[in-house]
Amino acid sequence: MKSKIITIENINDAALSDLETAAAFIKAGGTVVFPTETVYGLGGDAFNPLAIKKIFEAKGRPDDNPLIVHIASLDAVGPLVAAIPEKAERLMKAFWPGPLTIVMEKAVTVPAVVTGGLNTVGVRFPDHPIAQAFIKMAGCPIAAPSANRSGRPSPTQGKHVLEDLDGRVDGIILSSDTELGLESTVIDMTVEPPMVLRPGDVTLAELREVLGQVAVSTNVTQNVVPEKIASPGMKYTHYSPKGDLVVVKGTSEEICEKITRALSHYKGNPMTIGVLASDETMGCYREGLIISLGSRNDPREMSKNLFSRLRTFDELGVEKIYAEDIPLDNETLALINRLYKAAGYTFI
Ligand code: TXA
Ligand code: MG
Repeated sequence: MKSKIITIENINDAALSDLETAAAFIKAGGTVVFPTETVYGLGGDAFNPLAIKKIFEAKGRPDDNPLIVHIASLDAVGPLVAAIPEKAERLMKAFWPGPLTIVMEKAVTVPAVVTGGLNTVGVRFPDHPIAQAFIKMAGCPIAAPSANRSGRPSPTQGKHVLEDLDGRVDGIILSSDTELGLESTVIDMTVEPPMVLRPGDVTLAELREVLGQVAVSTNVTQNVVPEKIASPGMKYTHYSPKGDLVVVKGTSEEICEKITRALSHYKGNPMTIGVLASDETMGCYREGLIISLGSRNDPREMSKNLFSRLRTFDELGVEKIYAEDIPLDNETLALINRLYKAAGYTFI
């Protein structure tokens, strides 16, 4: 299959006509990659089971892992769900359009292949002009996982999408790098208190301001593979670079010492061993490929960079990556969650 590549920077007349081409693929039951404010998504008509099947095939995704359904107007929620809980409505008012996926009981008409057989559906209204224009033109809700091959870091740049999916989808809309770099916060509104299944740019503190009590799934809070899987996506290997990634814990001094020792014991080519550090700490290392995630004072910058940095190590052929642990707070929970998952919860 040859993928039609469509490059759009801003919405203008030429872009709108290109988006018509992309929307036509969706109307014909095809698949199109599009940018959002979080990461690129791989979309298909949420009401067309054949399109959904193509998404799973293109990604190589296990079919019990449900997809998020993307909309571009509030009145598109109704047909997707059995009912809109009052608290969910509050979230929509506060955070949509934006990086928040709201899980609600699904309407019977939403195909089971979209929700991995669950009776709930995750709905998201992305805050990105191209995503919104594309969804509106397609004329249907768009089911879309992140546009990476299953298990790989989510794509935040056009080149990541091309690496993973060129030739496996009908269309690819390329645009600027995604602004946030980590996937949306996922919150389950079918339980009381509501429960965060995946942390993201909308933080726990922000959610609690709107909802009062909010729980966090033990999948997020514990560094172990849980027996009960609340969000099926959580049980699979995720975000992994090809190199072997391990997170190094301790105080800044301890981390620096542990990594320095590991680097000095490394017998292979020094350029095949990497360190994921920060602007403030990278000066500590003398060997290996040292890459900064950004400034410790700017968690959003670090979040934006995580997936692309992991892919950079791959491009450079790095076999072993030591990532400095990151201090946990309200702003870094999502970043830490992705980093630990990428490392398969291996620590030294
Ligand atoms: O920012 C994002 O959310 C991106 C962009 C493209 O919108 N999408 C994304 O989709 O990250 P995906 O498929 O890579 O991750 C969706 C996550 C998975 O962990 C999945 O298990 C969970 O959301 N999820 C989706 N529907 C769910 C449901 N009904 N119940 C529980 N978890 C659900
Ligand atoms: Mg994903």
